[in-house]
Amino acid sequence: MKRSCAIVGCGKVGSTLARLMARAGYDLAGLASKSLSSAQKTGEKTNCDIFGTIPWEVTLLADVVFITTPDGKIEETCRDIAENSGFKKDAAVFHCSGSLPSTILSSAKSNNAVIGSMHPLQSFAAVGETENPFEGIVVAVEGEAAAVQIARDIAGALGGNCLTLKTEAKMLYHASAVVASNYFVTVQNLAVQLIKAAGIPEKDAFEVLGPLVKGTLSNIEKTGTVKALTGPIARGDVETVQDHVKAIQAWKPELLQLYKTLGRYTLPIAKAAGGLSEEAGRQMNRHLAE
Ligand SMILES: NC(=O)c1ccc[n+]([C@@H]2O[C@H](COP(=O)([O-])OP(=O)(O)OC[C@H]3O[C@@H](n4cnc5c(N)ncnc54)[C@H](OP(=O)(O)O)[C@@H]3O)[C@@H](O)[C@H]2O)c1
Repeated sequence: MKRSCAIVGCGKVGSTLARLMARAGYDLAGLASKSLSSAQKTGEKTNCDIFGTIPWEVTLLADVVFITTPDGKIEETCRDIAENSGFKKDAAVFHCSGSLPSTILSSAKSNNAVIGSMHPLQSFAAVGETENPFEGIVVAVEGEAAAVQIARDIAGALGGNCLTLKTEAKMLYHASAVVASNYFVTVQNLAVQLIKAAGIPEKDAFEVLGPLVKGTLSNIEKTGTVKALTGPIARGDVETVQDHVKAIQAWKPELLQLYKTLGRYTLPIAKAAGGLSEEAGRQMNRHLAE
């Protein structure tokens, strides 16, 4: 038999979870949000008529509680529910934050609940009414063993692939996701600025750079990062690196630090790949120094 579930915080993630959990056959025990309108809207979409603004009134009967408020409100919301004896004994209480550990839910343990976190590695910015953003994505879970098992069941039922993390590893896992996604955008933005300075209109930039970017991603997938590295640093081409530095210095000196820093962090990768001699590495390091 599927567990019953309550959602506290009917925003982007909470309302999507409510819709998908109901679709996957879970009973919705209740929905709560800061404003009645958010809870009501989610209730109407999921045929759940138990909704309101007082979390412990809707969590009390739930086997599983998701606290999907903004990150800064999770701990306080959990504490409020626990102080009002709002968690059922043995209930599993989760949040969905990527960076915070499950231990911020420790107050729920005073109600004999178990705690965990379940983070979908996905953007919920614009989820359509019929879409399932959990389908095929990684859902990272951590926490108490009983909670982790329940989270694995739920993630699987929603179509996600579960990845179990150690609680203390969560922050670095999240930092990795930020680098892979957000800082990738920063690097692409630098590339677009450089190609614009070379006279190619921004609207055409991705047409020019896209195949290179996609090819590199495909090489990383096939061979890993070290073998996927090509270009002047990998070849030990000191003069080209020196010329880049001069050209960027003359064009936009404020972007030079970023170019140099990325270059410095590329040096050990090139060394590991075996294409960079000690001497070429030393010279490059000088040109790329702050
Ligand atoms: N957005 C994403 O792409 C994404 C991806 C992965 C994980 N997450 C995580 O998912 C969680 C929720 O994020 P979100 O993007 O869904 O946020 P969101 O759209 O801002 O929704 C948060 C909801 O919580 C409600 N709320 C705020 N304070 C509350 C309180 N004290 N008590 C009850 N409800 C309260 C809000 O109120 P109203 O009632 O006023 O609407 C809102 O509906 C966060 O932990 C976030 O890190 C988000």
